[in-house]
Amino acid sequence: MASKICILHILTLVSIFLPLAKSIVSDFPAIFNFGDSNSDTGELVATGIETLLPPNGQNYFHKPSGRYCDGRLIIDFLVRSMDLPFLNAYLDSIGTPNFRKGCNFAAAASAIRPITGSASPFSLGIQVAQFQRLKARVLELELLPKGKKPGKRLPKKDFFEKGLYTFDIGQNDIASAFFSKSLDQIIASIPEILAEFETGIEKLYQQGARNFWIHNTGPLGCLPQNVAIFGTDKSKLDEYGCVSQHNQGAKAFNKQLLALSKKLEGKYSDANFAYVDIFTIKYNLITNYSQYG
Ligand SMILES: *[C@@H]1O[C@H](CO)[C@@H](O)[C@H](O)[C@H]1NC(C)=O
Repeated sequence: MASKICILHILTLVSIFLPLAKSIVSDFPAIFNFGDSNSDTGELVATGIETLLPPNGQNYFHKPSGRYCDGRLIIDFLVRSMDLPFLNAYLDSIGTPNFRKGCNFAAAASAIRPITGSASPFSLGIQVAQFQRLKARVLELELLPKGKKPGKRLPKKDFFEKGLYTFDIGQNDIASAFFSKSLDQIIASIPEILAEFETGIEKLYQQGARNFWIHNTGPLGCLPQNVAIFGTDKSKLDEYGCVSQHNQGAKAFNKQLLALSKKLEGKYSDANFAYVDIFTIKYNLITNYSQYG
């Protein structure tokens, strides 16, 4: 990636995102991902906190795959476009998961800051702590004598520095706040949420991470869940039937996340930051769905 901040403002997910991702994101030996249900590949299910039933998984894996989706997630397309295998969930201990080329800490319902009553106790701080433990264990196991080493299931030492660190988190911080706060109060809380995000990046940087790929948050107001709960009064909806205030909250978050990404790029001159405008991609997909079949 270029050393200046790279801001991806991509119009269509399927036709443009993947080839572009491939040209920008290449030669990373591993991916370490942090997030919520947008990129959970089996973490929350592995904990036993939740079970997923069909139709989850029906279109690609042909059974529930731990993803909150009937097919693949953006993270799945991203890793495949980089010729890497699907990411295993950090907590999935069954069948000896392979973490050689990356590990996924994302868990559905997670937020940057801990949320009381959330199904997921795995806020970003916990996910980063889990990464720190993974890395410490890998380095410990590398010191074992030949023959006792864990083999090829764990990342090589230098993968931690050369790997790509991806983030898709913040949606639940904003969405859950609408149950108890006004839009103004939510906007006022964004700097505190992002201070926590910055702490997470800082810890990973100190652990050797140098390549960061940050998704902004999507148009929360278009999620059926929010339309059903907050959109019963039609005057609250925009021209596309999305809850206006939720999308305003998401946009305010994204504006400050972009500013933070630029700040981090300045602060860590030997690191690369890519800010990916997922909001625009998803809003276009949702509002122009007929153009995409
Ligand atoms: C929908 O598609 C039109 C035509 O391609 C484009 O001008 C418009 O910006 C799109 N809408 C959104 C919300 O992206």
